[in-house]
Amino acid sequence: LKHIALLGHGVVGSGVHELFHKNRESINEKLGEEVIISKILVRNLSKYSEEPEFKKFTDTFTSDFYADVDFVIEVMGSISPAYEYVKKALEAGKHVITANKDLIAEKGEELSKIATANNAVLNFEASVAGGIPIIKTVKESLAGNTIDRITAILNGTTNFILSKMYEDDMDYDTALKLAQEAGFAEANPTSDVMGYDAARKLSILTRLAFDKVIPWKKISIQGITGVDRRDIQFAKSQKYKIKLVATSFYNGSHIYATVQPAFVHRSSVIGKIDNEFNTVVINGDAVGEIVFSGKGAGRLPTASAILGDLMDIIINKKKTSSGQLAEKCEMMNYWPFECNWFVRLKSKGDPISIDNIFNCFDQSEVQIKDLKDLTDVGFIVKAQDEKYIKDRVMDFLAHNTNLSIKYYKIFEDVMK
Ligand code: HSE
Repeated sequence: LKHIALLGHGVVGSGVHELFHKNRESINEKLGEEVIISKILVRNLSKYSEEPEFKKFTDTFTSDFYADVDFVIEVMGSISPAYEYVKKALEAGKHVITANKDLIAEKGEELSKIATANNAVLNFEASVAGGIPIIKTVKESLAGNTIDRITAILNGTTNFILSKMYEDDMDYDTALKLAQEAGFAEANPTSDVMGYDAARKLSILTRLAFDKVIPWKKISIQGITGVDRRDIQFAKSQKYKIKLVATSFYNGSHIYATVQPAFVHRSSVIGKIDNEFNTVVINGDAVGEIVFSGKGAGRLPTASAILGDLMDIIINKKKTSSGQLAEKCEMMNYWPFECNWFVRLKSKGDPISIDNIFNCFDQSEVQIKDLKDLTDVGFIVKAQDEKYIKDRVMDFLAHNTNLSIKYYKIFEDVMK
């Protein structure tokens, strides 16, 4: 008989508990032994007084908390006190399964070292892309490849909001509220909508895919709070959708990594991923382009990844590696490839001069898309790299101080 301590019983924790009970027989059969959740640590005990297994709940983390425990499942979220609890478990040689992307993005290297030193396993499949088994796939199944590119949608909440704005013309606040009610959003949804959650996941995936450490805060991050209905209408009129795209690229010496709202063709692989679904497109030198997609947020998809991690440790007799320790890597500041960008200019009332646009951006590379309203002009411009577009935008603003400007990368090249 094996014992599990469950740390946290919120959306994900209760999902793990439910799935564990639902599939208990088949889980035990596959494992060849019985595994039970024997204690559940929560912040506010009184909230759980109606739970049928209330006697397993506690709000006290004692020094001997792990004494009769074999596995620890951490689903509390945030760094503290999850970091202290996970560290103590690993130091005591207990195997840990966590869904905590904040923790793994910030402290993953350190905790992996502690796990290895104590002959324990630290698994974190649920920390990236919810139910999609991408961590194990990158670490093990694709290990024979050199991976040089990841293009992904890694946040369910923002994908849900952007989908509702696109499909139903729903406003941003209503869509966010629905995502919160469905249990997709973080306790503080700022990290979803500002792109931090996707950046943390991208840094975890990038470390495993390229064997290089990039601190998530060094990723160039832009959230979806600046995306408005008109941007979405512009995109729609050109057969694009706007998605919060997380991408990283390794050229052998430097990594470029960004999370930003971008235009993707509506019939491309990424363009077809809607609502809380996530996708990860990986380029390996042997496998070529390979695509994974599925539910990236929500209680049961996340619980699926957690139980898979647990069973993996038992079935593989603890041989699952915590991932090798990676080196630090220099970062590039600009997307280094030629691509099209969608640029939108807005004035407070005066018509925008198309000549000014042509003077600033190379005229032969500009296609104006909508001239019905000369106070709000959208155009597509081809740029040799991201530096070109940034320089041109700065230059344009310097000469047209009364205008506001925003621009989106257009991903044309990810699997049509
Ligand atoms: N808030 C996260 C999301 C949950 O929306 O993707 C899954 O990590």
